[in-house]
Amino acid sequence: MDRDTAEPDTGGLPGPNAARWVEYHGTHAAPSEYSHEFVWDITREADGPFVTDVDGNVLLDFTCHIGAAPLGYNNPKVLDKLAAFDLVEPMKIAGQDLYFGAGPDPDDSLVPGSSHLMERLTEVSAEYGMDTVFLSNSGAEAVENAMKVAHDHKPAAKYGYAFGGSFHGRTLGTLSLTKSKEVYTRHYPQIAGIETVPFCADRTCTAETCACGFLSESGSQLRRSLSPEGGHVNPEEVAFIVLEPIQGVGGYRFPSEAFMREVGAVSDEYDIPLIVDEIQSGIGRTGEFWAADHYDIEPDVIAAAKALRVGATVSRSELFPAEKNRLGSTFGGGDLLGSMMGTFTIEAIEEHDLLANARSRGRQAKELLRDGAHDSVVDVRGKGLMLAVEFDTPARRDAVVAEALSRGLLTLGCGKKTIRLLPPLDSTEREIDLGVSIFLEAVEAAGSVTATA
Ligand SMILES: Cc1ncc(COP(=O)(O)O)c(C=O)c1O
Repeated sequence: MDRDTAEPDTGGLPGPNAARWVEYHGTHAAPSEYSHEFVWDITREADGPFVTDVDGNVLLDFTCHIGAAPLGYNNPKVLDKLAAFDLVEPMKIAGQDLYFGAGPDPDDSLVPGSSHLMERLTEVSAEYGMDTVFLSNSGAEAVENAMKVAHDHKPAAKYGYAFGGSFHGRTLGTLSLTKSKEVYTRHYPQIAGIETVPFCADRTCTAETCACGFLSESGSQLRRSLSPEGGHVNPEEVAFIVLEPIQGVGGYRFPSEAFMREVGAVSDEYDIPLIVDEIQSGIGRTGEFWAADHYDIEPDVIAAAKALRVGATVSRSELFPAEKNRLGSTFGGGDLLGSMMGTFTIEAIEEHDLLANARSRGRQAKELLRDGAHDSVVDVRGKGLMLAVEFDTPARRDAVVAEALSRGLLTLGCGKKTIRLLPPLDSTEREIDLGVSIFLEAVEAAGSVTATA
């Protein structure tokens, strides 16, 4: 397969082999969120955004595994580095305090591991003074540990603040912060003391025009709830404010400058640690390394995962517990390959200037999507290659996802009636042209779907 000339080529999805694999998988797998009609064949050709399925269909993948494969498939920008090593068994490192070395000197090590990944993460977070990392296995664990760090730092705290529409993971701790869909949380026990405030509903809003109820000319809901006059929460007792700088699962919701400035100001003024969940939005997806970098806020803790292949809680050393064994994880940092892939991904972003590429390819995609927008499109939005198209109804959105898939373009829904597009960070102009033109054909084809709510 040649990425420069590849095109989607499908003969009907799901094909018979995919149906067999899905049925086999479903025999023993607990029902989960997604049931893709496409099954990637890891023995067949794939390059960047192009992938071959078990029936030989070639697809253009604009999901990047929800950002967990930020450079698509078999990308030489990371693969060449991996191939240079005569790798040993990709063992799991048992115990957070055990790590591997490769040769006598970490500075000259050819094989990066979890120690190098932590160094890279602190380099890209230096503007926030962050110098310390705790590695774990998943996004949820990265957020859980951020909560623990914040509570350890403020032992008397009884409260935390989260935002409407949020998604922070599926462990019991993170579900207490997750406010997007009730299917995630129904009947599960909640951590006490989590206060919920609205998340911005209009990315251009000001205090005068705020539509979500968060901002008003007399101050924000967050600020009023903490006020000595009339508030019901003592700021001294608040361990953290946690937010996704751009909401993912909740619908690719981009907050306004005014909203973010106020969240940052309250965190500063009341000395409440601000945890930013960058699990979907981080590692270059938005054209900055962290989505928080777009806004006037100063995060105290960053939770990352997905594109890193491991979970990471990043902060300043003074916030982390000094006591040994306060945090821990048997497999924190993943296996030998996990941390290495995370390190190579950060290096690829830097060596190939992929932040700039994400910004320019994102601009290209937004322009094309806006120019070609059908009447059913309510909004086209995005930063870098974290892109979204919102439709008039959920039925229309679902029809577009299906029409795109039948043409060989993989997309993902989010929120109630939005499609998210996450092309690889090194997407080319041709790939964006191709993907958007297929997407616009799909929107046209779905145009006749009855617009029911
Ligand atoms: C913003 C955000 N936070 C947390 C998580 C949870 O990550 P994980 O599924 O790795 O536990 C996700 C996963 O989609 C996410 O998008």
